[in-house]
Amino acid sequence: MYRTKTCGELRLTDAGSEVTLAGWVQRTRKMGGMTFVDLRDRYGITQLVFDESADAALCEQANRMGREWCIQVTGKVCERQSKNSKMPTGDIEILAKQLNVLSESLTPPFTIEDNTDGGDDIRMKYRYLDLRRAVVRKNLELRHRMTILIRNFLDNQNFIEVETPILIGSTPEGARDFVVPSRMNPGQFYALPQSPQTLKQLLMVSGFDRYFQIAKCFRDEDLRADRQPEFTQIDCEMSFADQEDVLQIFEDLARHLFKEIRGVEIPKMQRMTWHDAMRRFGSDKPDLRFGMEFVEMMDVLKGTGSFSVFNEAEYIGGIVVPGCADYTRKQLDQLTEFVKRPQVGAKGLVYVKYNADGTVKSSIDKFYTPEVWAQLKEKTGAKDGDLVLILSGDNANKTRVQLCTLRLEMGDRLGLRDKNKFECLWIVDFPLFEWSDEEQRLMATHHPFTLPNPDDIPLLDEHPERVRAVAYDFVCNGIEVGGGSLRIHDGKLQEKMFQILGFTPEKAMAQFGFLINAFKYGAPPHAGLAFGLDRFVSIMAGLDSIRDCIAFPKNNSGRDVMLDAPGELDAKQLEELNLSIDLRQE
Ligand code: AMO
Repeated sequence: MYRTKTCGELRLTDAGSEVTLAGWVQRTRKMGGMTFVDLRDRYGITQLVFDESADAALCEQANRMGREWCIQVTGKVCERQSKNSKMPTGDIEILAKQLNVLSESLTPPFTIEDNTDGGDDIRMKYRYLDLRRAVVRKNLELRHRMTILIRNFLDNQNFIEVETPILIGSTPEGARDFVVPSRMNPGQFYALPQSPQTLKQLLMVSGFDRYFQIAKCFRDEDLRADRQPEFTQIDCEMSFADQEDVLQIFEDLARHLFKEIRGVEIPKMQRMTWHDAMRRFGSDKPDLRFGMEFVEMMDVLKGTGSFSVFNEAEYIGGIVVPGCADYTRKQLDQLTEFVKRPQVGAKGLVYVKYNADGTVKSSIDKFYTPEVWAQLKEKTGAKDGDLVLILSGDNANKTRVQLCTLRLEMGDRLGLRDKNKFECLWIVDFPLFEWSDEEQRLMATHHPFTLPNPDDIPLLDEHPERVRAVAYDFVCNGIEVGGGSLRIHDGKLQEKMFQILGFTPEKAMAQFGFLINAFKYGAPPHAGLAFGLDRFVSIMAGLDSIRDCIAFPKNNSGRDVMLDAPGELDAKQLEELNLSIDLRQE
């Protein structure tokens, strides 16, 4: 037996017993004739003591050990003289009798402790060492617990887990596909699934009724803190279900997870239409942990003074920042710079300070009378001591998105985005299509299989941009954690959708013939949803990036720096795959 106990479980009640532990040397300290070693494994840290006066040779052997050596130790559990209340095993230590070095270690490139001296790059290169750190390991343990809870919950609700293939044809989720050349079919490629969307719909045609899968998905898109090129979905689909059924089950699942993992009761989630979310927060994923809801100010500020920017604006809106009327010139300049950055894109920022002494000061004082500021105070509900920040523009939704960025920035500055608070909601009634500047055409907001709201079907031909989808997103703390929709199960309507999306019947058939044909064999009405597991775990763990809950993540350039992937292929492999070397060099 390599070990009789783990490094996390021994307590004072074990004193006197003989144990064998195995793990890694976190630290050694020599104090007089005693050597103390912190031995670490997945379960915790236990202090070992080597006493020179009891066994000089053994102590010398211990003194030779370096950090991260992998060892096995047998000894007696003793009560510690100076206890460490911060460690679960802090009441005891092991008086070592036998030491067996299982594996020596090079000096690690960074200290393997919660507070490490290793920067991001080096930790990712040696991710297997990074994963020895308890703070990182805990995130993976949490992820494991969540997947077990999810599987059990869905199993209890009659969902069955079905694996769908990774080598498939292209799935239309709006991102670029990762592709794999086929050796046996020269010149042809598989695509990796952006999600199992079409396959889970086929499973509904097969009668599986309630499906789920903890599914790997792949999207070749620009990376951010909440995006990885490969990520995991809790992917679900249900037949004979309407929006209410889906929201109920997955709201219950989310509530169950928050209860089990964080011990918090999430109240019944509010539902907000996409339009309201855009109007009130400038985002389809509003962070409701704090207020500062938008106030539209067109009636108070347009045409009521001589400020031409406002007089020409299509939208003027602002937020009331509580207690910030004492912001300095410098702080306001910083905020102006912030909104003018290309990533935000506002032309400028107007402020109105409702000072604590009742006076008012604005960056555009000279254009308005005091009565206007009084009206604005009334309209916004600002109190003395508050700061009102205002943006305007010629495109209402674009300006709202800019104001959203400013609102989140103020939330951050005021410490209102508390990671231990969870505000979840459903966003419903998404538009079915959105305009793509890049493609210069309407694209499906979610995917082409989303059911249009039956009330809006008459608008499909004339005003497709006004058609609402029966689609919903699950949002928590300003992050889109999940999304789904009711699906089209009527072949004719599906054809119409393809037509609006610019597919010729031939192209639709070539790409989705399998689905169109399947729907000819008694397709049940169905609906579904997918949660992003990585995002869900990172919210539960209070992480800033989903990378921290993925064992071997990619960096922002999509590279795995540990494996040094992607990499080049040798000429022989390229030839087998019918990929010419010239192509590679282009
Ligand atoms: P959607 O594209 O909204 O829907 O994806 C569902 C959820 O997956 C997560 N997600 C990601 N997580 C990490 N990195 C990424 N690059 C990434 N992209 C998406 C998000 C998102 O909410 N087939 C549909 C679902 C359905 O209609 O049933 C789909 O994939 O948390």
